Amino acid sequence: MRAALFGLLLCCALPAWPAPPPERIIRLAETPGEPPLDPAAAAWERAPAATLRLYPQATIAGGPGGEPLMLEARALRGGTRLALRLAWADAGENTYDVHATDRFADAVAVQFAPPGKTLPYVGMGEPGRAVSLWLWRAGRPPESLTAHGFGSLERGAAPIEAHARRSAGGWEVVLRGRVAAHAPVALAFAAWDGAEDGRAGRKRLSAWQALAAPTGALPASLREEARAGGDAARGERLYAKLGCAACHAPQAGLAPDLASAGDIHWPGYLRRSIREPSAFLVPGYAALMPAFPLQAEDIENLTAYLMKRPP
Ligand code: HEC
Repeated sequence: MRAALFGLLLCCALPAWPAPPPERIIRLAETPGEPPLDPAAAAWERAPAATLRLYPQATIAGGPGGEPLMLEARALRGGTRLALRLAWADAGENTYDVHATDRFADAVAVQFAPPGKTLPYVGMGEPGRAVSLWLWRAGRPPESLTAHGFGSLERGAAPIEAHARRSAGGWEVVLRGRVAAHAPVALAFAAWDGAEDGRAGRKRLSAWQALAAPTGALPASLREEARAGGDAARGERLYAKLGCAACHAPQAGLAPDLASAGDIHWPGYLRRSIREPSAFLVPGYAALMPAFPLQAEDIENLTAYLMKRPP
């Protein structure tokens, strides 16, 4: 009885998310030679599959709605080359057609976070914190790009290769390119469905995913970013008391809907957004959010609430 009670206390005293959930980790496998471009190559079996959720980008008006898209990602590194094998369901094949400017191609992009202990805003980086991207569009050569904020795409320096094939009801795409000696520590993924008129911001997007060692351990540099030790119930009360919903309720239309903030953001980003509201402005919104006089503990509790909030 006493042991059971102790167990209960122990269980509930622990933070709900001591580390990011498994879907925020992709385990990188090493291969002795060059990682394969062929999505059917046997070498891919060495790389554990991570199943990620890509959420409709909610901050864009007119973007796709509905359920998250499930994307399977595998990562293989050989020397300085990294290859990513991405597979997802997409019933209709929409390929780029130079003569049909009103139609859009199916596409997928990988975004690499710059080195550092904090992750930039997941939707195309932030001014001063550029992200690099690998973009594949059906029927076009792959492109290497950089971005430092929404709508700031530029051509990247390093060429990349891609190989795609249709699977039963979807795409299997391998993207391969060179990475710096220190492998990137976090990646995020976006997908566009040509059938939905998918282009630019009308996409589905994942949270940042840590590219972890084969053991699955979170890179040490991201531990602080993943830390979430607050009390969600206290955070919920504080959210009501401070009137956060006055702006953030979807019907208010003044600020991003935070109902699914925890699906797409890491605790570190949410903490910074509350502590220094206008240090980075979410694209499409004005600098309206006041800097609340909050104790560190309050910020932790609000963060825990936003990470756990059910949609
Ligand atoms: C007066 C309106 C207003 C109030 C009140 C307000 N916010 Fe905001 N908030 C905004 C706006 C506008 C943005 C988007 C622009 C920006 O990034 O500052 C934002 C952005 C955010 C973000 C980043 C969201 C994202 O999708 O990237 C978080 C997290 C956040 N607010 C949390 C809070 C919390 C917690 C409270 C209550 C303590 C609160 N806000 C109160 C207006 C407000």
